[in-house]
Amino acid sequence: MLSLPVLILPHHSASFRIIHPPLTPPASLMAIAVPSVIELKNVAKRFDSGLLALGAVSMHVARGEFVTLLGPSGCGKSTVLKLVAGLATPTEGTIASPAQKDQTGRSTAYVFQEPTLLPWATVFENVWLPLRLQGQSRLGAQSVINRVLEQVGLGEFHQSYPAQLSGGMKMRVSIARALVSQPQVLLMDEPFAALDDITRQRLNVDLLTWWHGQSISAIFVTHNVAEAVFLSQRVLVMGARPGKVVAEVHVDQPYPREASFRQTQAFIQHCRTLSEALDAASSTGVRSHEIG
Ligand SMILES: Nc1ncnc2c1ncn2[C@@H]1O[C@H](COP(=O)(O)OP(=O)(O)O)[C@@H](O)[C@H]1O
Ligand SMILES: [Mg+2]
Repeated sequence: MLSLPVLILPHHSASFRIIHPPLTPPASLMAIAVPSVIELKNVAKRFDSGLLALGAVSMHVARGEFVTLLGPSGCGKSTVLKLVAGLATPTEGTIASPAQKDQTGRSTAYVFQEPTLLPWATVFENVWLPLRLQGQSRLGAQSVINRVLEQVGLGEFHQSYPAQLSGGMKMRVSIARALVSQPQVLLMDEPFAALDDITRQRLNVDLLTWWHGQSISAIFVTHNVAEAVFLSQRVLVMGARPGKVVAEVHVDQPYPREASFRQTQAFIQHCRTLSEALDAASSTGVRSHEIG
């Protein structure tokens, strides 16, 4: 007889909650003080190839909240972001997000692993691009672009070309281009995965200062447990085949978070909790694959 995959967890790891299928939003997810900006209810996605990439994913993100999706490769993290951005449609279930209401795309910004800059355009022109597409002139957009470039530490590099920048600086341009249209929602798909550890940690610190206090709802995708803990208020752990949210970890530590946060017991404990949840999620994926 077939049975559903079951997560078996040691008693001491009760600090994360397991979301067991069928995936309806638990009461604690519904009882939030701040209204959701993004809400997925029982969302399934089957591609034309027949592959069921997402099972029944339910999740929400509140205004100004920083949520990370953590999970093994192929569990559907990028698919969730594309659905939230309105770049794909669900096969089943419903999605409410600013991208569904605002078809101009102004409300939602997307940062990819590759900085995807125009090589023939300067830093200034790359950041101008989304505003230019909205009809803003170079002169009209100048003050906001200057401000955002200062904010991301590239005040001196307006006239540089992408080929003259390091990987970390290119990613700063990519994030500046996302922030310049003052999005309501910031979607980031493994933006720092290709960077060395020191640059990545520096960008983690800076990203929090850019996000904090701006009422931006952020969904960040990573494979990296320490990065997830450092950045997030909540981490949703995903399992595969089909993709689903299997655990939720609250990182109940205040912002601003400085680099020294990584040395604290609280940080280390959260990393341990999340690693356990990820291990459990990965083993679920294997089991459901073996069953299916
Ligand atoms: N356009 C597509 N057509 C068919 N299968 C796809 C498509 N995009 C993604 N997939 C498959 O869906 C699953 C989830 O993909 P993805 O969301 O990219 O995972 P992740 O970002 O977690 O690595 C994978 O098995 C992937 O191969
Ligand atoms: Mg991906």
